[in-house]
Amino acid sequence: MRLLVTGGAGFIGANFVHATAQQRPDVEITVLDKLTYAGDRATLASVTEGSDPRVRLVEGDVADSALVQRLVGELADSDGPGAVVHFAAESHNDNSLHDPWPFVQTNLLGTYALLEAVREHGVRLHHVSTDEVYGDLPLADPSDDPERSKFTAETPYNPSSPYSATKAGSDLLVRAWVRSFGVQATISNCSNNYGPWQHVEKFIPRQVTNIIDGVRPKVYGAGTNVRDWIHVEDHNRAVWAVLQRGRIGETYLIGADGEANNLRVVRTLLELAGQDADAYDLVADRPGHDLRYAIDASLLRDELGWRPLHRDLRSGLKATLEWYRDNEAWWRPRKAATEAKYAQLGR
Ligand code: NAD
Ligand code: TYD
Repeated sequence: MRLLVTGGAGFIGANFVHATAQQRPDVEITVLDKLTYAGDRATLASVTEGSDPRVRLVEGDVADSALVQRLVGELADSDGPGAVVHFAAESHNDNSLHDPWPFVQTNLLGTYALLEAVREHGVRLHHVSTDEVYGDLPLADPSDDPERSKFTAETPYNPSSPYSATKAGSDLLVRAWVRSFGVQATISNCSNNYGPWQHVEKFIPRQVTNIIDGVRPKVYGAGTNVRDWIHVEDHNRAVWAVLQRGRIGETYLIGADGEANNLRVVRTLLELAGQDADAYDLVADRPGHDLRYAIDASLLRDELGWRPLHRDLRSGLKATLEWYRDNEAWWRPRKAATEAKYAQLGR
């Protein structure tokens, strides 16, 4: 099988490339990545720099129609099955509030360019998206009512930020290309990921690397916002399940029942690092900050038999803290510039 993986030098895409290269000897991968501030050649170096002839990195823009047509055309011309797995996106809410334009370009125009290419060449597409397209759920004490509402594929789209609005738009483009042009595509909407190779601008790596640096973690608002955490390996196993066994035109929600509020995450990280669990700072809130996300993944579980392997958030956070301790050379070059940006925002 041959795959074109867009955004494969970013957090989730790189984990996908490494796991696939390790576990599936019959798969060849071309990564298409613009290597923005969020993508890093070094993340893929162990597989792209000569050591594994099955993986190649093409530096380029997913919104570059000519390039995308050429790469998708290669898949169509090769023997055996081919597919595109589309991770490339501008992915950080805080950045989208500051400058929405790259989000419109990559998330909307990039997905459009890819859809036109898979339509032209008759190639299978899996579109990777987020639960943030659904907006947010009301906040309530997690012990209140275990049957509280969660997002399902029937929840109406109601995005809050330029990031989630452009991801919502990209999902709707995919749905329209399936219905009107018969494109062979699936969509997945996943909850918040954590694990190795996540950029230090995101919540968990930012706090982990602050703790390593002896800086107090920074928590927005009152810290009561809830996210539904999933380990990136479980997300990518679900992407493979949908790619291989998902029904064309279907939307699969991916989540591992990992709800926790931000204070709980930060307090756990501080405890794991042997520090005072109260040694964090509450800082200015994010405008439009979504209150709670929660995923009902029953379709994925019942139809495709997927189950998460990482079920305990505390042990997942412990492993992540250790990964950042062991891989300082990877994240250190981005840390100071990221914190300088946050300092300008007062966060
Ligand atoms: P990331 O920001 O870490 O990586 C994005 C990658 O895309 C980077 O390598 C970047 O260089 C590349 N890229 C950006 N613009 C590009 C362009 N125009 N052309 C080609 N490449 C480009 O993001 P991530 O966290 O790995 O997210 C990957 C996908 O998963 C995104 O579509 C995101 O919406 C989705 N998602 C993320 C999460 C999460 O918690 N991180 C949860 C659900 C869904
Ligand atoms: P983030 O990782 O940006 O993901 P998303 O906005 O997609 O959920 O943020 C996760 C949660 O953590 C969110 O509620 C915002 C909060 N947060 C902080 O409290 N402090 C921080 O420094 C960051 C980056 C995020």
